[in-house]
Amino acid sequence: MTRELAAGRIAELRKALEFHRRLYYEENAPVISDVEYDQLEKELAQLEAAFPDLAAPGSPTRTVGGKVGKGFAPVPHPAPLLSLDNTYDEADLREWNARLERVLGKTSLDFVCEIKLDGLSVALTYRHGQFVTGATRGDGFVGEEVTANLATVADIPRALTGAPAELVVRGEVYLPVRAFAELNEAREEEGQPVFANPRNAAAGSLRQIDPRQTAQRPLACFCYQLLSAPELRPASQQEVLRLLSGWGLKVEPNARACRGIEEVLAYCREWTERRHELDYDADGVVIKLDPLQLQETASSTAKSPRWAVAFKFPAERAQTSVQEIAVQVGRTGALTPVAHVKPVRIGGVTVSRVSLHNEDELRRKDVRVGDWVLIERAGGVIPYVVAVEREKRPPTSVPFPFPGTCPVCGAPVHKPEGEAIARCANRSCKAQLKEGIRHFASRTAMDVAGLGRVLVDQLVEQGLVETIPDLYALRLEKLAALPRMAEKSAGNLLEQLEASKLRPYPRVLYALGIRQVGEETAKALTARFRSVEALSAASREELQGVEGIGPKVAAELRAFFEVERNQVLLERLRGYGLKLSWEGKAALGPLAGLTFVLTGSLESMPRQRAKEALEALGASVAASVTNQTRFVVAGPGAGSKLDRARKEGVPILDEEGLTRLLNGDLGPVGR
Ligand code: IVH
Repeated sequence: MTRELAAGRIAELRKALEFHRRLYYEENAPVISDVEYDQLEKELAQLEAAFPDLAAPGSPTRTVGGKVGKGFAPVPHPAPLLSLDNTYDEADLREWNARLERVLGKTSLDFVCEIKLDGLSVALTYRHGQFVTGATRGDGFVGEEVTANLATVADIPRALTGAPAELVVRGEVYLPVRAFAELNEAREEEGQPVFANPRNAAAGSLRQIDPRQTAQRPLACFCYQLLSAPELRPASQQEVLRLLSGWGLKVEPNARACRGIEEVLAYCREWTERRHELDYDADGVVIKLDPLQLQETASSTAKSPRWAVAFKFPAERAQTSVQEIAVQVGRTGALTPVAHVKPVRIGGVTVSRVSLHNEDELRRKDVRVGDWVLIERAGGVIPYVVAVEREKRPPTSVPFPFPGTCPVCGAPVHKPEGEAIARCANRSCKAQLKEGIRHFASRTAMDVAGLGRVLVDQLVEQGLVETIPDLYALRLEKLAALPRMAEKSAGNLLEQLEASKLRPYPRVLYALGIRQVGEETAKALTARFRSVEALSAASREELQGVEGIGPKVAAELRAFFEVERNQVLLERLRGYGLKLSWEGKAALGPLAGLTFVLTGSLESMPRQRAKEALEALGASVAASVTNQTRFVVAGPGAGSKLDRARKEGVPILDEEGLTRLLNGDLGPVGR
């Protein structure tokens, strides 16, 4: 390969790897399997080795994925949370062992094999036996502070017995498989997007702003490493595991000492077979040199230790036949082809539907009704079609005719040049309306819990709701007359709808479901434009003046506000009393100019509500203590932010002070 060609390919690979890292680490929504990811990374590493002058320090081959997200305070780790190199078969593993034997000048090495949980790495700091700080991995060097959330995890004790004064341990937080299935069922029922796998669900749960939300997810945690314990000198990984469990931390119970590579291979074979006996998603085995002294000799690269390696379980695949291809219509009108397949078990779950993503993907793979397909569920990712078995294709089969009209309302389908997604052009399409209502009512938007999937279908099908504001015109008699509804449930729903009128302006804006306007964007927009009128009147340039708003979002906002029916919709929502501005308070609230930081949990309300209430009074609420911070509100479980506030002399309010403030008594802040 010429240098030029290599340079082009290297740039392409770096871009692709960065894209997939972002999906995996920041959005918790990977679209390719770990194996595919590793292949890309391997190709890049080979090219960089062949053309050393093209290697760069920031390349994904030399950095660990993940980033410190917005909204959480950064916590530096006492030692980097390294990643692991992967092996995929016995030959790879033998090679790794041979290299290690060569480096150490020893044969028949002592290893510890551990189950590799597909969860989320965390660093837990205990001081004098008390849990003080918990952080995510972040970029490996600096994590995100999630102490209050981790404090809700039953396996993470508030206090340890017999632990040294200074202690930081590394563990893996995960969601048990059963809890994961239940969570997704509930989300499906509420019309919220389901999590692709338990790892994503755990990540999403841990990064909740409100610890009460985290507390509702039965997260669990296994520990496996000492990141810092200056007073201790354990001799082996086995001893580390014994220490951890002796202090009261949970350790995965199937770890085993293995002498020599043959015993290691036997362990890997055994758990490849038995992985589904575990109530947690395991994606492989971690093999570690047992004596810590040998670990030190073997040393680490900037990215991963040489003394440990991951053996990844092979992807789980199965063959089945396509019975039907259906085209679903989503909230934004996007048409998604879905293969209904003969139910088949893959890695402990039954798969009956497989998304084919979009028209282009469907054509590229040329999946047809009657085809035999190979389906894979790699690393717990949502199942996808790997390939069609062409030899088995029935001679009569024809390519799937992608509809030119919406399968729900019959309106023409529109697909802009260069875009992969075809959309139904009819904004009153029932499918779009139903998904729009589900989004509007979802927990992070207007939070109307009674509006389940079935009920939304009924409301739309019976013509009781034709646009979102119709929800607020629903009457008890009509509701109670619906199948499966009774007076009581109908009354509850009306109460919930009434209560939803109190949701603050940013939530209402997010609930409208304007394309590209997620929760964070809605908050940024409402901080700058204090009412929907102001937002509606803003030009593209003014919109792009807000941090985080790019040309795409600005264009979608303009497109939304320019449509007459959307203005009518806003007018009606306002008429029903929804908050479309920071109304009621003076344009500059009584707490304007004051920056608060919240830490720990509150008894009387979730932290998110406290934040919104403070903001409604004009205050800013920041994630970490800086020299801008005027007050810190601290509740039980407060961690490093409280320490920092004390150190910097920032005034601290307790929950009572906060409640007084929110009730209009400005005494606590001296105003
Ligand atoms: S050891 C230097 N042990 O797997 C130590 N990691 O693919 C490196 N993981 O980032 C990690 N179970 O999040 C280790 N028993 C275990 C593990 C484990 C799960 C995760 C961990 C790591 C990832 C690497």
